[in-house]
Amino acid sequence: QPQELLPPPERFTPRQVPTLPSLTDPDVLHSLRQSLHQWHDHRWRAGASNDQPRPRHSPADGRELGEVFLADADTVHQAYAQAREAFVDWSHQPVPERADIVRRFAGLLEQHQSELLYLLMLEGGKTFADAFADWREAHDFCGYYAQQAETLQGTPLVLEHVSGEANQLTWHARGVFLCISPWNFPLAIFCGQVLAALVSGNTVLAKPASDTPFIAWRAVQLLHEAGVPEAALHFIGGEASQISDALLNDSALAGVAVTGSTATAKHIERTLAARDGPLLPLIAETGGLNVLIADSSALPEQLVRDVLTSACTSAGQRCSALRVLLVEDTLLDRLLPKLEGAMASLKIGHPALLASDVGPVINAGARDQLEQARAELRRHARWSTVTPEVDPALGEQGFYVAPEAALVEWEHLPEEEIFGPLLYIAAWRHDERDKVIDYIERTGYGLTLGIHSRIQAHIDDWVERVRVGNLYINRNQIGAVPGCQPFGGERLSGTGFKAGGPHYLMRFCTERVITDNR
Ligand code: SER
Repeated sequence: QPQELLPPPERFTPRQVPTLPSLTDPDVLHSLRQSLHQWHDHRWRAGASNDQPRPRHSPADGRELGEVFLADADTVHQAYAQAREAFVDWSHQPVPERADIVRRFAGLLEQHQSELLYLLMLEGGKTFADAFADWREAHDFCGYYAQQAETLQGTPLVLEHVSGEANQLTWHARGVFLCISPWNFPLAIFCGQVLAALVSGNTVLAKPASDTPFIAWRAVQLLHEAGVPEAALHFIGGEASQISDALLNDSALAGVAVTGSTATAKHIERTLAARDGPLLPLIAETGGLNVLIADSSALPEQLVRDVLTSACTSAGQRCSALRVLLVEDTLLDRLLPKLEGAMASLKIGHPALLASDVGPVINAGARDQLEQARAELRRHARWSTVTPEVDPALGEQGFYVAPEAALVEWEHLPEEEIFGPLLYIAAWRHDERDKVIDYIERTGYGLTLGIHSRIQAHIDDWVERVRVGNLYINRNQIGAVPGCQPFGGERLSGTGFKAGGPHYLMRFCTERVITDNR
């Protein structure tokens, strides 16, 4: 167990958590500590109590957090029946009323900020800065989707006409949506999916990742408190694989939003295709094998900073995270020593300690896979960074994986996503710019791409030819902000439309044209 979960105010320096200036406020620190005490005293329970309970532990220090009740096929079926019934009233509620409920929920996120941040740190294993980023993204989604729904559904689109008839196009909710969310953004992505579905008039079964049920459970409680009828939003606890049939084959299901692995999305796609009945939309955001390309004109200091942020923030557990750094060979000598120094200075520690840069990975399975991948990386490394140490006491209780970067030959670059803080580096010669594009094409993924260059022709060429969803030039490649950087990939990385973008809600709706010849 960590000695001290938050430093006293006088030891706080804003640089450590630049995203949350209010932490300098003693009242905020006080309320964070209060939340921590609640955690010590309470066992959390999530789900319907007639289901099977299962204990949950923190990936940070192994403490038991409480228990989640695993939904069975009956629970799922009842939830669908209620959500189908609730759809009639909820979808007929005027859109400004639904948008107001979402805005009220944003207020509740503010009111319960300390508690949610602690949940994100202890259940999600997020450092304080990452927890805050997750909370803020959830909050941003509220305002953004509330406004988008009012725009999309508020006023019919008046269309051209060829005779005296009037034509108009309107957007309507589809019915009951199944939202399957991941553990790596247990608040933001959970809320993003659920809010998009609800605000556009659908009702929802929300199935959060089995590693992070409590954050989702709290969000569902707060959504009910904000005014979403209980029958319109259901929390479904447990392993999706065990209730997959019940979740995907119910006749009430009208669409699925999933963020997770490409394999999971493909399984859902196949299952939906095999169903009898209507054709259902699938909104899938999946993984990436994200590259950063740096040419000889990149500024090494800036590059090192952005590489570290992109590869090691959230212990590398972001689908946007940098996995492969492709560097022009003439830059290597200036880059590698700096990268080594910067990596060695990272502090791996309990996520609720403000000094920690890198917290745990989500579970023992993830840690073991990453350690295997590290062994493989080292076997092929021509050069690698000195790995910062993991305190053995911490490692006994939680699941910590030290970041590492290594230079390898091109044939040893990964072909599949490796979800953690391991970074592969390969070098290219001036006349090998196409090799970079060929590698990205070959992976089949298309999520994020970073480019560090001051040569306009290089930037234009890569931007033109690389097929990815989010490109970042001369900055880090994570942390998309709703409304500013709508987020999502193509090919193996997802179906679109982008989350936090102007078209996302359309996927939750059906469009109808009325031709009126009265
Ligand atoms: N939207 C997140 C980011 O941009 C990834 O899920 O980092």
